Amino acid sequence: MEVIQPHPNLPVKSAKAEPDMTSKDDPRAHEPSFDNMDERLAPPPPETGFDIVLDRALSRRGVMCGALRFGLGSFLLGTAGLLRPTLALEGRFGFAPVAASSSDALRVPEGFEARVLLAWGDPVLPGGEPFDAATRGTAASQARAMGDNCDGMEIFQRGGRTVLAVNNEYINRAVLWGNRPESRPEGADDIEKGMMAHGVTLVEIAPGAEGWRIVAESPLNRRITPRTPMRLSGPAAGDALLRTSADPDGIASLGTWNNCGSGRTPWGTLLTCEENFNGYFSPSDPATADDPALRRYGIGARNYGYGWAEIEPRFDPSREPNEPNRAGYVVEIDPFDPASLPVKRTALGRFKHENAEVVLAADGHVVVYMGDDERGEFLYRFVSAGVFVPEGEPVRLLDEGRLAVAVFEDDGTGTWLDLTPEATGMSAAQIAVHTRIAASRLGATTMDRPEWVAAHPHRAEVYVALTNNRERGVAPNAGGDAQPVNGPNPRAENRYGQILRWRPHGGDHAAARFEWDLYALAGNPAVHADARAGSPNIDAANMFNAPDGLRFDRFGRLWIQTDGNDSNAGDFAGMGNNQMLVGDPLTGEIRRFLTGPVGCEVTGLAFAPDGRTLFVGIQHPGPEGASRWPDGGEGPPRAAVAAVRRIDGSVIG
Ligand code: FEO
Ligand code: CA
Ligand code: CA
Ligand code: CA
Repeated sequence: MEVIQPHPNLPVKSAKAEPDMTSKDDPRAHEPSFDNMDERLAPPPPETGFDIVLDRALSRRGVMCGALRFGLGSFLLGTAGLLRPTLALEGRFGFAPVAASSSDALRVPEGFEARVLLAWGDPVLPGGEPFDAATRGTAASQARAMGDNCDGMEIFQRGGRTVLAVNNEYINRAVLWGNRPESRPEGADDIEKGMMAHGVTLVEIAPGAEGWRIVAESPLNRRITPRTPMRLSGPAAGDALLRTSADPDGIASLGTWNNCGSGRTPWGTLLTCEENFNGYFSPSDPATADDPALRRYGIGARNYGYGWAEIEPRFDPSREPNEPNRAGYVVEIDPFDPASLPVKRTALGRFKHENAEVVLAADGHVVVYMGDDERGEFLYRFVSAGVFVPEGEPVRLLDEGRLAVAVFEDDGTGTWLDLTPEATGMSAAQIAVHTRIAASRLGATTMDRPEWVAAHPHRAEVYVALTNNRERGVAPNAGGDAQPVNGPNPRAENRYGQILRWRPHGGDHAAARFEWDLYALAGNPAVHADARAGSPNIDAANMFNAPDGLRFDRFGRLWIQTDGNDSNAGDFAGMGNNQMLVGDPLTGEIRRFLTGPVGCEVTGLAFAPDGRTLFVGIQHPGPEGASRWPDGGEGPPRAAVAAVRRIDGSVIG
């Protein structure tokens, strides 16, 4: 979910009523005609470095150069048909491409099968009740059940047991309250039901004859909700910025919400990332929203219409001004200790966190790459002060370190700038809380909405999905930073998105400098002949828009999920529903693996430890009626985690 809707005059009973499917962020809602778009395009700038970068990305030679720079084996050099499938590439992908689809089905390649493992409303805790399609549950039943709108997910194993952790990012109001007139909550229990559908669901899973299954009522099963007690740690813990009437010490927060992407630490804990935390706050005094620090994070008169301030005064910033400062973090959870307190790690900064990709630098420093998903916001990196010792305790590794922000040069190089008190003129606590403002002060490069970051498993090379940005070249970001067309964000009014990658100097993830290029420019070569056609590794058979979820498998293949315009018309004709693809970093080739049901976004993926099952998240299928996935019949559509495997049981990734 990326956008805010006005309240209370919300359109309902349609997927278009969902927060991330309406408003000016939604390409479908505000798609200009070609003429209008042309009028809005800025005059062409003089040729600069970004033209060269764009040319390189758009030329076949450029893809090869990129591949060369990033290690393509010499046996492929000079191959004219580099992007055409070869036997070797077929073997590397191991599946035949899936055609674009607008049907209400989850489609996987021939030789694969998909089934639903866990859907919104399925009971996971003792006392849970089976999902009731008529009532869609109560606050009490929802608190014991899988949350709504699954997103980032991770799998953990310890002591022979396996836990699947799934983020529940937000709610499909039109479905969750679809039993009510106008799909609006009726009373406190309905509002609380929506609240309890947020957070994280942790379930033990076990292999069975039919594949992985949920272990019902396992003591490891847990729901994390916006009411779960948690601890604040790092530079902002205890600071006046975090103190509230309920927590005068500023160290004990209550709950997490809008948990988007995920990550995992080398010591086996879950990182869950708070993204659009802002739209849950409703200032009763409009003057409250004049605070620039609130405005920078989108907290104001507009909200998502969830009504939380009606049942908990802390969601009214006019009454509890510091409560918004206690959200927007990366939260660490021990998946094998249901009694443990989750910890909000303020050292990793406060912004609209997408995911948290953790790698170890060669010398053992813990490095966390993070995107801030908003138009013109930034890409971040955290490097721990201490080093990871495999058998040791990870003491303060995510509490003490250097948080930095990326600056990209159009010559293909870049620099991480540390957000220090000296550089920013802000205290360490202020940097941790008002991270966007700190990064603006250093002149970080405004990006086209950084979504997931994924690090290559075999070499120091990192990818980020820049999903789209209608305001590139048009308007500044919320902090007033310019968004000129530039190297990593080379298209004005970027509606398709791109995948950017970088390689740290010396192969050291803690290095200050890096080299970057564009792995893919999404586009529509069937409609456009200019840069909107995309890079040469995009063709009529694999085109997509709005890359979002990214993850590498153990073989170094990049899995790409989309959260885009699924109208299958106009600029998006031929792309069909949202989908998942696989990219080969060596050759640039991208192949479609899966297409989702009507109205959905495909987001969140995790491989079973044996690599033979791939868990994929299907978020916000709908609207009701247009989609009945996954249950069919008369039931409402339900967000769900699907388990995909080869029919012959062999390894996927
Ligand atoms: Fe929750 Fe930026 O996606
Ligand atoms: Ca989304
Ligand atoms: Ca996302
Ligand atoms: Ca998205």
